[in-house]
Amino acid sequence: MKENLKLSLGPFQGITDQVFRTTYTTYFQGIDKFYTPFFTSIQKDKAKNLQTDEIAPSLNNVETLTPQILSNDAAEIIRFSEQCANLGYNEININIGCPFQRVARKKRGSGLLPYPEILDAIFAQVFQNISTKLSVKCRFGYNDSSEIFPLIDVFNSYPISELIVHARIGKQLYKGTVDTALFEKIIPLVKAPLIYNGDIFTVSDFKMFEQEFESVNSFMLGRGLLSNPFLASEIKEIEQPESFEKQKIVHAFVVELFEARLKQGRYPQRAIGRMKELWSYLIWSFDEPQHVWRKIKKINDPKLYTEAVEYIFSNYKWLGNGYKSSEMEEE
Ligand SMILES: Cc1cc2nc3c(=O)[nH]c(=O)nc-3n(C[C@H](O)[C@H](O)[C@H](O)COP(=O)(O)O)c2cc1C
Repeated sequence: MKENLKLSLGPFQGITDQVFRTTYTTYFQGIDKFYTPFFTSIQKDKAKNLQTDEIAPSLNNVETLTPQILSNDAAEIIRFSEQCANLGYNEININIGCPFQRVARKKRGSGLLPYPEILDAIFAQVFQNISTKLSVKCRFGYNDSSEIFPLIDVFNSYPISELIVHARIGKQLYKGTVDTALFEKIIPLVKAPLIYNGDIFTVSDFKMFEQEFESVNSFMLGRGLLSNPFLASEIKEIEQPESFEKQKIVHAFVVELFEARLKQGRYPQRAIGRMKELWSYLIWSFDEPQHVWRKIKKINDPKLYTEAVEYIFSNYKWLGNGYKSSEMEEE
């Protein structure tokens, strides 16, 4: 393991909100840095949607959390940076990786990647007017991975604090394979600290990427950690509990997270919906993922949800194998 290894958790809209991050850190170790799921519509100086638990400094660690924005509007990004600075944050992140068509067709998220000149114009304004650092999360392109090369010229013209690259293109969504050869190729070209993201599902996946990208010491985990919340601590070789202990810890985590989500809002269905999103990843760490999923996927009632969770933890075995994308796609 690299001595100065840093691990972050990628943001997941609908899953890794403040409640998740807080509960996660009480049970698990190994993540150095978190990002909020993206914010949009920062239309005013005192935007209502920033006056939330999501980035409230009383509920978040401003040192280890970076708020993220999805925007192609320099004025909006500046407004976001200013309001985050007022809350005590010293870095924001811009999402130019979101692959969804409704986002991309408006030249937002990965839809901005084929237009380096637009990005250049945005950065020119933003960097003159912000007091926080700006980090970037992107993909290799939207239509084609060669789009990354003119983008790197733009990135290199500005003091971006870090460049996180999800090694896919937008059109792939979350499918297909990551292009590790291309990631390796861009390592010497990028001036900013470079962070690898994509398909780190197990410790052995991580070891492969770590070896392949020798000079990279910062990695962002995603679906792998949602499937196996111990992944970061396993990668960092932090002493691990026995497998049956792990099952108990995950059980307690899931119960506490649901309780916290219930307290969060008036609609238990919403809390269940968010838990199900997480379960769609967690199932892969049990001995019978499809059976576990069948127990949980149709539930809409809090009592039935709780019963299903108890049933799962009493009847299935935690293996902690991590995410398996190919099997998920067959579903
Ligand atoms: C349901 C879902 C929601 C996501 N939400 C965000 C988001 O709000 N911001 C972002 O930058 N990435 C988002 N991502 C991308 C992840 O942070 C991560 O980059 C991606 O899953 C690739 O990493 P992985 O292969 O390790 O999972 C999302 C991904 C999924 C599947």
